[in-house]
Amino acid sequence: MWRVAVVGSGFIGSTIASVLASRGCDVDAIDVNERLIAAFLRGDHPIKEPGLGELSDEQMACGRLRFSCDFSRVANADVILLTVGTPLADDFTPNVSHIRSAIESIAPHVRDNQLVMVKSTVPPGTTRTLVAEPLRQAADVRVAFSPERLAEGAAIRELASLPIVVGGMDARSSAAAEAFWRETLGVDVIVVSSPEAAEMVKLANNLWIDLNIALAHELAKLCDALPYDLDVLEVIAGANSLKKGQHYVNILTPSNGVGGYCLTKDPWFVHTLGAAHGTELLTPQISRTVNAGMPAYCAAQIAQWARRQDRALSNLRLAVLGLAFKTNSGDIRLTPVMPLLDALHSEGFRTITIHDPMVRKEDADDSGVELNSSMDDTLRDADGVIFLVGHDDFKALSPERIASLAAPGALVFDGRRYFTRAEIAELQTLGLAYKGVGR
Ligand SMILES: NC(=O)c1ccc[n+]([C@@H]2O[C@H](COP(=O)([O-])OP(=O)(O)OC[C@H]3O[C@@H](n4cnc5c(N)ncnc54)[C@H](O)[C@@H]3O)[C@@H](O)[C@H]2O)c1
Repeated sequence: MWRVAVVGSGFIGSTIASVLASRGCDVDAIDVNERLIAAFLRGDHPIKEPGLGELSDEQMACGRLRFSCDFSRVANADVILLTVGTPLADDFTPNVSHIRSAIESIAPHVRDNQLVMVKSTVPPGTTRTLVAEPLRQAADVRVAFSPERLAEGAAIRELASLPIVVGGMDARSSAAAEAFWRETLGVDVIVVSSPEAAEMVKLANNLWIDLNIALAHELAKLCDALPYDLDVLEVIAGANSLKKGQHYVNILTPSNGVGGYCLTKDPWFVHTLGAAHGTELLTPQISRTVNAGMPAYCAAQIAQWARRQDRALSNLRLAVLGLAFKTNSGDIRLTPVMPLLDALHSEGFRTITIHDPMVRKEDADDSGVELNSSMDDTLRDADGVIFLVGHDDFKALSPERIASLAAPGALVFDGRRYFTRAEIAELQTLGLAYKGVGR
């Protein structure tokens, strides 16, 4: 049985800790945030991720998972996973202060032969200089980097199925990291030649995703601008049927924007890294600029429809479905819905009711957003029904149900619900207007 300490029990840390416990590991999940730890211990499910609350409760109850603020617990572990946050500083540079302070807290407790594995997204060189060098003064530890690549909303499934990349400081560190993931999660492990290569893998993945989505967004804008009845999803599906080399073209889907803790910052990590080493990189700036512009673009599309109605925008009632940044997730960190709400206000809309069953009321309150807990009340008599995320509850909402609740002739704006073409036709037959992103 592997004994594991997870340092940083936020979204990634608590997910990994719970999944590893469910695979038979003995896990200590540690955090500096006492409020967060108390919430886990009370069974309050402070991290909204499908299945996570139940899994952590179950693992705590059977004694394999413990949450605490006690860093001395790392002394008992075979493997110490570092999953603290790495936010973006105001000047768009990576803020690695949480890594530094976590290392200071665990250094007095590390022992020879433990494996310390960094999961937080960091600039290349961080594992070597901020983790391996200071810790190896304290003990003969093995050190590796292993990027976390799971996506929120499907975290538990992805953690147990995605291949894992590891890059150790030396052969014995890589071998220990590889053995750990193979034995605990049973997934494919790809060993790269250094921690820096593994650190770069994560940045390459997120730059690719952000840039690919930017491409989808620009194709969508072009479909909107051309004087033909184009559906960007149909165009993308057609384009994706082409095989290039070993793989198919894989253009992702456009939406009302990109949010969350990773894609909004990691391309900037890449950009500042290039700048720090005298290389100007253009793709991160392009992906960030295009994607950050989508909320205002969508608000302008909604306003364009509204101006064609014979009523002041301030008198139109909008029902916004979705505050989370991602489908089937309750995470609102850097959600594109916030700038979209601001842009709707700037366009002149005044009555906006917001519903999101996945988001905790406390989190919405902290962001100054008042949620309406009833989907029906939110939709009733709305002049515009604005879908900004594709939660299962929203997908289950049929055209008839929308038409029975919303005002006659209301706009259905599809930021991320992705109505099928048959459903769009049905909405129109029911007298509603439809506008999607690029459709
Ligand atoms: N959220 C994602 O989908 C995702 C996906 C892949 C990778 N990542 C990366 O994983 C890392 C963690 O992301 P997250 O979403 O879990 O962030 P998070 O903010 O939810 O969690 C980070 C946790 O670290 C804790 N922490 C901060 N300083 C600490 C310290 N000195 N000691 C112990 N705990 C400390 C915080 O209190 C917080 O609970 C980041 O580097 C992120 O870029 C996140």
